[in-house]
Amino acid sequence: MLDFRPEQSAFWAQLQTAAPNTPSIGALFEQEPSRVERLTFEAAGLRVDLSKNKVSQEQLELLLQFASQSPLTNHRSAMLKGEPINASEARAVLHPALRDFGNIPSLTDQYRDTVYQQRAQMLAAAEQIRSGEWLGYTGKTITDIVNIGIGGSDLGPKLVYEALREFRSDTLTVHFISNVDGAEIYSLLKTLSPETTLVAIASKTFTTQETLLNAKTALTWLRQGLGLDLVEASSHVVALTASATNAVKYGVAPERVLPFEEWVGGRYSLWSSIGFGIACAIGAEAFNELLQGAHAMDKHFAETPLHSNIPVLMALVGIWHINFMNYPTQAVIPYCERLGLLSAYLQQLDMESNGKSTLRDNTAARTATGPIVWGQTGTNGQHAFFQLMHQGTHTIPVEFIGALQDTLSDTNHHRTLLVNMIAQASALMSGKPAPDAQAYRDYPGDKPSSMILMEKLTPASLGALIALYEHKVFVQGSLWGINSFDQWGVELGKKLTNELLPQDADLSGFDESTQVLMGLLNARL
Ligand code: F6P
Repeated sequence: MLDFRPEQSAFWAQLQTAAPNTPSIGALFEQEPSRVERLTFEAAGLRVDLSKNKVSQEQLELLLQFASQSPLTNHRSAMLKGEPINASEARAVLHPALRDFGNIPSLTDQYRDTVYQQRAQMLAAAEQIRSGEWLGYTGKTITDIVNIGIGGSDLGPKLVYEALREFRSDTLTVHFISNVDGAEIYSLLKTLSPETTLVAIASKTFTTQETLLNAKTALTWLRQGLGLDLVEASSHVVALTASATNAVKYGVAPERVLPFEEWVGGRYSLWSSIGFGIACAIGAEAFNELLQGAHAMDKHFAETPLHSNIPVLMALVGIWHINFMNYPTQAVIPYCERLGLLSAYLQQLDMESNGKSTLRDNTAARTATGPIVWGQTGTNGQHAFFQLMHQGTHTIPVEFIGALQDTLSDTNHHRTLLVNMIAQASALMSGKPAPDAQAYRDYPGDKPSSMILMEKLTPASLGALIALYEHKVFVQGSLWGINSFDQWGVELGKKLTNELLPQDADLSGFDESTQVLMGLLNARL
């Protein structure tokens, strides 16, 4: 039984009682010996320091008891065994299987064989592109890949592609088109040659409106540029999808459909054939390192006791912030420009997973659930919204992320970058009282933060970082009693768009404002 109502746990009331008496973070450092040592954890090449959060040892113990008396560990095993824990869609949730290299004991051979076969097929296709063996219609090699996809079929691959710039081929460029905003795709296509371009249609369902419209535009461009009618079936098009049937119906040649399974959630799919663009850019070896990094975090999550399990501890600190300290947002600030897309990626991962108010048992949530996730890179953010974090009226927990070495930078830049990160975390926590009669110069401090450090941004450390967040989100969803793997909230907007799209749409059922706006639009478009 995985259903859970957190507020019914005896520990919930104890946590509510304990919260208002929490000492300042500074006081916690004075009261608790070896706080940094006790609250710093290492796994899969990541070092996570949770000591600057406003949670005492006693409170953390209570949170751990709350977690251990919940269905969390059963839920984790159920996920890893491939049980259909995504109940509203009757699906298993097996993205960790995509990172398996033969040592997740609970995976059945059936899953393993499928994963290995699909992985091999995708990596072989990517290697053919990289080696120049994959030729376009006019016999030229492919120099540009246009990945057309949105949400999970865009954000993950795009994040990894940008983050691993150092490891990319310099003879191949991957472009990402997601928004249905035609200005994007038309501007891009103007810069490319159809003879050397491969269009990768990335869509789990192969039904997403934006993706299909962008694909149509790209395929028309290819058709005209190549003078080829059946361009869908040519070597200029691949489909990355869990619906091979839809892709083949669309006209993609069956051998150019790179499949993955229904049990891979869209926002958990970068590890599957959706990662084709990544594999083309960084090659099979580095792609496997990305998977291995994630796998190392999977093993840590699956096997480590809760009290030193990093995704569990980060999730509990988050629950403490959201439910007991009433801090509803979570800022993620990487001090690395190549991780600039991380907050956008995490917005989908976290907010599409845990932005829910109905629980697994189909009843309304009585506690707050998923945080509002946001952020951008430091030091840029310091010159924008950090003012509010230091002196505003909201308390914003921060997750700082940094890499100790950067071979693309130099000591001077990199030391300055990382010292800024450490200084900000210190300033947020310690604050500084205002000089007399200058209250505007008061820094109240007591603002919580965590710090995630890696040695270097590599495929493996990036894989571990992303998997850490996936599991953190899983743990929070489990402890709030949520199904983190569906996304019914996005359906209504899609339905209304489809109703409003025809020029002669019946507007009578819509509110007055919508009718007026549609009137304006219909007069022009
Ligand atoms: O609209 C939400 C969503 O279903 C996401 O969950 C998904 O990642 C995205 O749309 C794209 O879906 P697909 O990969 O099926 O095109």
